[in-house]
Amino acid sequence: MTTNLIGTARTRVDGPQKVTGGARYAADFNQPGQAYAVIVSSTIGLGTVTDIDSTSAEKMPGVIAVISHRNAERLPYLPHRAIIDPASGERLHVLQDDKVRFYGQPVAVVVADSIDHAERAAAELRISYEAQQPLTDPTDQMVERIIPEAGSVDRSRGDADKAVAEAPVVIDETYNIARENHNPMEPHATVASWSGDRVTLWSKSQYLVNEQAEIAAVFGVPLENVEVVCPFIGGAFGTSLRTWPHVTLAALAARQIRRPVKLVLTRKQMFFTTGHRPRTLQRVALGATSEGRLTAVIHEGTGETSRYEQFTEALTSVTDYLYSCPNVQTRYRLAQLDTSTPNHMRGPGEASGIFALESAIDELSYKLGIDPIELRRRNEPDIDEGENKPFSSRSLIQCYDLGAERFGWKRRTAQPRSMRDGRLLIGMGTASATYPAFHAPANARVRLLADGTAEVEAAASDMGPGTYTSMSQVAAEFLGLPLERIRFKLGRSDYPQTPSHGGSWTMASVGSAIRAACLEVQAEAARLATTSANLPVSGTSIEDFEWREGTLRRRGEASLGISYQDIVVANRGPIEASGSAQRDPSVAERYSMHSFGAVFAEVAIDPDVGTITVRRIVGAYGIGRVVNPLLARSQCTGGMIGGMGMALMEQTALDPRDGRPVNAHMADYLMPVNLDIPALEAHFVEEIDPHVNPLGVKGLGEIALVGTAPAIANAIFHATGKRVRTLPIRIEDML
Ligand code: MOS
Repeated sequence: MTTNLIGTARTRVDGPQKVTGGARYAADFNQPGQAYAVIVSSTIGLGTVTDIDSTSAEKMPGVIAVISHRNAERLPYLPHRAIIDPASGERLHVLQDDKVRFYGQPVAVVVADSIDHAERAAAELRISYEAQQPLTDPTDQMVERIIPEAGSVDRSRGDADKAVAEAPVVIDETYNIARENHNPMEPHATVASWSGDRVTLWSKSQYLVNEQAEIAAVFGVPLENVEVVCPFIGGAFGTSLRTWPHVTLAALAARQIRRPVKLVLTRKQMFFTTGHRPRTLQRVALGATSEGRLTAVIHEGTGETSRYEQFTEALTSVTDYLYSCPNVQTRYRLAQLDTSTPNHMRGPGEASGIFALESAIDELSYKLGIDPIELRRRNEPDIDEGENKPFSSRSLIQCYDLGAERFGWKRRTAQPRSMRDGRLLIGMGTASATYPAFHAPANARVRLLADGTAEVEAAASDMGPGTYTSMSQVAAEFLGLPLERIRFKLGRSDYPQTPSHGGSWTMASVGSAIRAACLEVQAEAARLATTSANLPVSGTSIEDFEWREGTLRRRGEASLGISYQDIVVANRGPIEASGSAQRDPSVAERYSMHSFGAVFAEVAIDPDVGTITVRRIVGAYGIGRVVNPLLARSQCTGGMIGGMGMALMEQTALDPRDGRPVNAHMADYLMPVNLDIPALEAHFVEEIDPHVNPLGVKGLGEIALVGTAPAIANAIFHATGKRVRTLPIRIEDML
């Protein structure tokens, strides 16, 4: 039996559980005697709570407590170190004072014996405020634009200002991308249960060990007193990387009333305190020769942040390495607003930044009369010119070749408004995609059991990419066992530590740790086999043996060997080993590591009413090794749909009077639905990267959204001759 599971299409090992209701999400972990908490959100955008009248609410049926800053436990909110959380600054201390910093901030929690009783009492609370005018629009003159504290983000080579001034051909434009809110199917939820000074949280999280550390720090209890459990996530893509105030509120309420408490956010509340993709304002200036060689790139970007924290993302970073250019200047600023702190949303920073850059490159191609793909070909760098080091691998041009062929780019006629289907205007556009190939230290444990199966554990999450399945494939491959004999367990903070489930680094990091743990457990099993009196290899040297297809065999011999099961039985107990993996720092010193892709979109525009229909999206990606093509394609099509949302639909609109999100519900926060979603194709170029990590994977997830919005905007220009630099692009922009 050979496995070679890495690289094969497998359906999800957790699929049956998901479709039969067996998968349990945070809010499914009901505890005996639990009470229900409802958050009361501020109805002003800035100011002070002057009074909370809870007299009638407290008399209502089933009400257990009304908790506000007046009676909430004072929490120590100790600092803690983590990879992502918190952003620089100081996190919101919830219910600790009377200040309101943004619209929708939690100002009270009502706890009752049922969700209905809690909601009714919450509606009965009378809260008085002293309101001030919040600043929520980054274009407002009053808004301060600051340099982020988090290290130097401005980069410069050559003299870009001078080169733009001297360039024969120049594009210099500004771009404006709307704020977007995460809208996963599963709302944020936490069930908290204390036993003495130990707490268990069944909580939606992409970063269990961080949630554990955050809650331990907020409550001032030892780390080991906090346990976080989250076996399933109903979508997230960034919104559950951080531990938001509702987790603290669930734990606080449970401790205050001495009962387990369940707290589920409403869809509306998910627009207040669980992060959002920050609105961005950008300028891109390009200088080029008439032959289409870039001589200058200036990329300036501003993103929103809150007053109490600085959220930063990689808004301008791709500009440093995507193309060859001697003069490049990037600048990144933050606009401090009276809003909650933004956070990562799929392709954070890169997706917004590349919309500006790739719109400008497309615009340049028309100005020069050069095919957009040919223009990129002429500016393909030999090395990362920003870091001045070679790429570990880079397949951008191969992606364009493959994507163009599958998309049928040859059928495109260059002139805008030159393609028609009946009365519809047809447009074809393309854009580059890229995302860093990250890697973070991770750990895993493998246990060989007497029934011939293996258990693998890591404190990872699976928000939908298929982590259960792909990690099982990695373990099966390195143990030489069939997939069915692997049980991969994730979603507990007491499993071996892993980094956040984000940044497209889960497979690189956790996958490499699982590989290491598999090799460790094989070494341990071999050692036990040769020292066990009950096995035929007893007393021989380990050196004479090797693992092949899940059995220990004498080197070079084809005869049947000794199975894990034989050794476990002889050992009279499971055999366990841990493994860890991290990137050799010298590799990062030597190489620039990124995924690349090329995205193609075809749109049809009705010239009379301006409706925009995306007909096809084709993406080609160079992401190193593909662990499971079925899951990988699913990642890509999901990302393309997110990119469609960014291009054409998603926008959280704020009321300028108080910063209230006016479309905080699924009816008015538009997202692509099945009727909008066209034929989507994802292809992968063959790419072997020996440097990124032992598995050769660069990561997939974020890059799938990056590049989609500019490909669509560029297709819209090709169809109509209208260049729209504000997202989302709307019907009225077409008229
Ligand atoms: Mo991803 S935005 O890091 O969940």
